[in-house]
Amino acid sequence: MIHIKSKREIELMRKSCQLAAKTLKYIEPYVRPGISTEELNNLCHEFIIKHGAMPSPLNYRGFPKSICTSLNSVICHGIPSPSDILEEGDIINIDVTTYLNKFHGDTNKTFLVGAVSPIAKKLVEVTFECLMAGISEVKPNAHLGNIGARIAELAHAHGYSVVEDYCGHGIGREFHEEPQVVHNNVRGTGVIMRPGMTFTIEPMINLGKKQGTVQKDGWTVMTKDKKLSAQFEHTILVTESGHEILTLLSD
Ligand code: MF3
Ligand code: CO
Ligand code: CO
Repeated sequence: MIHIKSKREIELMRKSCQLAAKTLKYIEPYVRPGISTEELNNLCHEFIIKHGAMPSPLNYRGFPKSICTSLNSVICHGIPSPSDILEEGDIINIDVTTYLNKFHGDTNKTFLVGAVSPIAKKLVEVTFECLMAGISEVKPNAHLGNIGARIAELAHAHGYSVVEDYCGHGIGREFHEEPQVVHNNVRGTGVIMRPGMTFTIEPMINLGKKQGTVQKDGWTVMTKDKKLSAQFEHTILVTESGHEILTLLSD
């Protein structure tokens, strides 16, 4: 069942989404060579708590930390660790989900650590364009599959692959709700979008092949071919006239 959020629910959810976006902005200047992903985790954790919210990942299905930090060939769900120290040339995705007012807000961004190779930089730029192209398909009475069709078209035009094992998701009172938002999809398929639906779009785009493998820690998903992977995520509301990016910082 896909929850249609009321005006009041949307107002509460917007606040959670804005806090998630603020957390990503807050952490940005710390994403430098020499910092550990554990330190990034602790800074985000404190920031979220200070604003009266909880970090949704902490203890979610046993996840041990407050954010996900996915470095270079990690597709998603990387676990912050004191032994993972950022180095010049890395790319790192930081995924923040906040729980505020009984609603979740979910957003992530891939950061460049210092000077990065042109190949890595282009992957990150195109992945952001994939997210925005997907978002541009969000409007009432259109098929959900149009989002993933648009993302795949752009990624494939650059010779990249689109991860299929992990998807965007409905979000609200639950971290992960229906519908599933597939990032490699076919135009004109899937459910019809309706005003009041809220879901994430979060394409994971790989330099090499789309396949990933879960590491021994039970969470970290690494590309099978060990090539780079990038991701961006926003939480989106379907409105009467189109959409609103709830995790786009408004002030
Ligand atoms: N924030 C991730 C998403 O975009 C989910 C992380 S689940 C966790 O859906 F347990 F790893 F935190
Ligand atoms: Co998400
Ligand atoms: Co997320």
